[in-house]
Amino acid sequence: MARARSAIVTGASRGVGFYIASGLARRGYRLLLMARRRGPLEEAARRLEAMGAAEAVAWPGDLRVEGHVRGAVEEAVRRFGGVDAVVMSYGNPSCEPCLLHEARWSDWVEAAELYLASTAAMLKALVELNPGKASVLLVSSATYLEPMPPLVVADTVRAGLVKLARLASRGYPSRLRVNVLLLGSYDTPGARETIARLASRRGADPGELWEREVVARSPLRSTGDPEGLGELAACLLESTEYLAGAAILVDGLMTPCSQ
Ligand SMILES: NC(=O)c1ccc[n+]([C@@H]2O[C@H](COP(=O)([O-])OP(=O)(O)OC[C@H]3O[C@@H](n4cnc5c(N)ncnc54)[C@H](OP(=O)(O)O)[C@@H]3O)[C@@H](O)[C@H]2O)c1
Repeated sequence: MARARSAIVTGASRGVGFYIASGLARRGYRLLLMARRRGPLEEAARRLEAMGAAEAVAWPGDLRVEGHVRGAVEEAVRRFGGVDAVVMSYGNPSCEPCLLHEARWSDWVEAAELYLASTAAMLKALVELNPGKASVLLVSSATYLEPMPPLVVADTVRAGLVKLARLASRGYPSRLRVNVLLLGSYDTPGARETIARLASRRGADPGELWEREVVARSPLRSTGDPEGLGELAACLLESTEYLAGAAILVDGLMTPCSQ
């Protein structure tokens, strides 16, 4: 009997990572889920199995620790016999929202570990440990094209993900196919927390700020729909080999035409 398809999803306990894991669960994947807090991750695993995942394993770990990232690949290969797909969703830098003059040295180091070192470690572990070829999707933001000053740390650092995706896909064409999602706005706990912090700094109402700074940025006057994102991500992960090293804009038209 053919082995069920398997995936590692990071940042999987909530938000974008959970939405994408849901798309894979609905297709019957076996999932290894990573985030730092065990409780919410185990709850996410239960919900994903209820949605149709053949298996959902909670694997608590921190993306900023090389051994945790490598351990996730080791465990997925041991349990599933190989990894077909990897989705890397991340957190946000702890200083966010912060302007350039407010960011400390340690904020830049944290972001470099969270986005770049973690991704490089994941790709290296896949090349070294995974018996087959993995399709990898990295979660980045449309604000990489149209930067927002309070996201300067995240946007500057994750710009490197686009280069990494292309270099890794070109360097290991029989082992890796890596693409990047440049997302517009999704209603997630993390996005709500960033807006709440911004509102408290400006003495503004969080609900109003959400409408003005998030919803109204798209001419569609809405945030992205989670189910659609999960379905799209699953399609991209399973799509043609020719889609590799690409940055794919899914932004509800919020990025101006000049980009
Ligand atoms: N929401 C949007 O509109 C949007 C748009 C474009 C891009 N993005 C990007 O997409 C990513 C996810 O955003 P989100 O809004 O879904 O955030 P979120 O709601 O805060 O979810 C973040 C997830 O990542 C996990 N996580 C955070 N830091 C981690 C670490 N060091 N190691 C392992 N897991 C970690 C969290 O669980 P634990 O805290 O338990 O670890 C949680 O599962 C972020 O990089 C964000 O910038 C989001």
